[in-house]
Amino acid sequence: MCGIVGYIGNQKVSGILLNGLKRMEYRGYDSAGVSILTDGSIETIKKSGKVAQLEKLVDHTQFDSTIGIAHTRWATHGEPNDINAHPHHDSSNKISIVHNGIIENYAILKKNLIEKGYTFRSDTDSEVLAVLIGALYDRVKNMEEAVRYALNEVEGTYGLCVLSVYEPDKIIAARRGSPMVLGIGEGEYIVASDAAAIIQHTRQVIYLSDNEMAILTRDGYETKTIKNEKTTNTIHEIEFDLEQIEKAGFPHFMLKEIFEQPDTFRDSFRGRLLADKGNVKLGGLTQAEEQLRKAKRILITACGTSWHSALVGEYIIENLAQIPVEVEYASEFRYRNTPLYPDDIVIAISQSGETADTLAAVYETKQKGATAIGIVNVVGSSIARSTDAGIYIHAGPEIGVASTKAFTSQICVLALIGLYLGRMKNLSQSDGKRIGAAMLEIPNQIEQILNKSDEIKAMAKKFTKSRNFLYLGRGYNFPVALEGALKMKEISYIHAEGYPAAEMKHGPIALIDDNMPVVFIATKDEIYEKVISNIQEVRARRGKVIAIASEGDNDITNYADHVIYIPNTVPMLTPVLAVIPLQLMAYYMAVELGCNVDQPRNLAKSVTVE
Ligand code: M6R
Repeated sequence: MCGIVGYIGNQKVSGILLNGLKRMEYRGYDSAGVSILTDGSIETIKKSGKVAQLEKLVDHTQFDSTIGIAHTRWATHGEPNDINAHPHHDSSNKISIVHNGIIENYAILKKNLIEKGYTFRSDTDSEVLAVLIGALYDRVKNMEEAVRYALNEVEGTYGLCVLSVYEPDKIIAARRGSPMVLGIGEGEYIVASDAAAIIQHTRQVIYLSDNEMAILTRDGYETKTIKNEKTTNTIHEIEFDLEQIEKAGFPHFMLKEIFEQPDTFRDSFRGRLLADKGNVKLGGLTQAEEQLRKAKRILITACGTSWHSALVGEYIIENLAQIPVEVEYASEFRYRNTPLYPDDIVIAISQSGETADTLAAVYETKQKGATAIGIVNVVGSSIARSTDAGIYIHAGPEIGVASTKAFTSQICVLALIGLYLGRMKNLSQSDGKRIGAAMLEIPNQIEQILNKSDEIKAMAKKFTKSRNFLYLGRGYNFPVALEGALKMKEISYIHAEGYPAAEMKHGPIALIDDNMPVVFIATKDEIYEKVISNIQEVRARRGKVIAIASEGDNDITNYADHVIYIPNTVPMLTPVLAVIPLQLMAYYMAVELGCNVDQPRNLAKSVTVE
């Protein structure tokens, strides 16, 4: 949700900033802009649209400067036009800022500043912060103080970089609620919303905390709270490699990430699954072991795709550990005064680790004295740092806005937690071994499905004229139906609904006619026959049936117009296999329709606003 980057060092800055923006474009692509300090003034170039549009306007030969800031926007306040694009300046054009977040009290601040004679150009909340810093500078004549005073006046969230002609060899960065990572290089500092913009320069990073500022000069950096107390930070090493954030020959990140799943699933259980013992070793849960042992109830909270994996987790944990599990959207959890007790465990699932609602749910959990556990992909992210214990899914950077490999890795980790809790309770070793053995098979089984991508592509092509899809599944496959529908709508803009298959007759069946494709996840399990009955109900109304079925199930061809077979596994791991054809189907459909798969309209990868 907006990507920001600032650089001060010994290299020409314009290319560095544009490159940084490209690496973070998945965070928002409504507009982009740079401010470069050159010959005592700030040169700002900004444009609605993608970074590529901005790049056409930046003449690198024009700038020798080695200091600047830049922004790629996901619009909240003000439409995505050139004027509302960041960077924003103060009234006298001496200060430039890039901001990620929302200034909630911007209206009253703006009114007060206008009354004092300050002027505005845009409709954004961010410009208010720029003008406020300018107004405070007029009073205190010190940039650090002006920024600090401003940050104490604003309500809301910010990841922020500030550049000024007053103190030309300085960038001030700050964070509250929006991520900021500071890269410490050789004679250079680069600060950004995401380590992806930093790794080309250095692997040494500091994750700023909420209400913390970093003051970067050519001689060094210092960090302080916005109350002016000095802070010390641990320097971390970025764990991923540059290749992992490149397309590696694939036309889109989404396709690359779909094809990475044999490896990413394996990485999620590597070193944790003790298949021959029917058990697991989860170092990340050690601190919460006692609470987990006595937990009477588990709540899982998340948004979007992560919420779908939470639903799978509910079924897995209840089945293996016989502990009641509830799943709740984080956006609902945080505002409805959910009763929580010290013996409760709340598991927050998030790929980015920055989703505002999920983070707020973690804070709420801790405030009410329950134990918060994170299942997160991005190392060092806000959720990872605010939970009491947690497990990284180790799926590597996920750049495509449509989440794919994170989903399968989240289920992997939830299955590990299920085994962990199950073996703590009554799950037998032989059952643990059976599940462990099935898990070891999954990477090869995903590979087998990926080998059918041409078949899935050909099938997708047949449905490009369909404007609606229904996805149906039961048991473990119900969340897969939801996830398949979400993938379809978010990247191809085709309306799709996921439902528990048996619920169809309580309403959605009215939609079915010979134009309606219905995707059934109909794998061989204990409710297979029931799903076949639901298929018959669709067939009777001339709906077109696409079935995701278990290898060896020849009968299903009697009921379905198209069948994609997936290998057999234990029911609780079926979602990991069943989702792969649905990811591919949505992908090929979107490509066929000419949609921008990696950057679907109106979306952003990490949703750091409410
Ligand atoms: O980073 P998170 O897992 O917390 O993100 C949650 C959702 O925003 C995310 O899953 C979103 O729904 C994706 N676009 C789905 O593909």
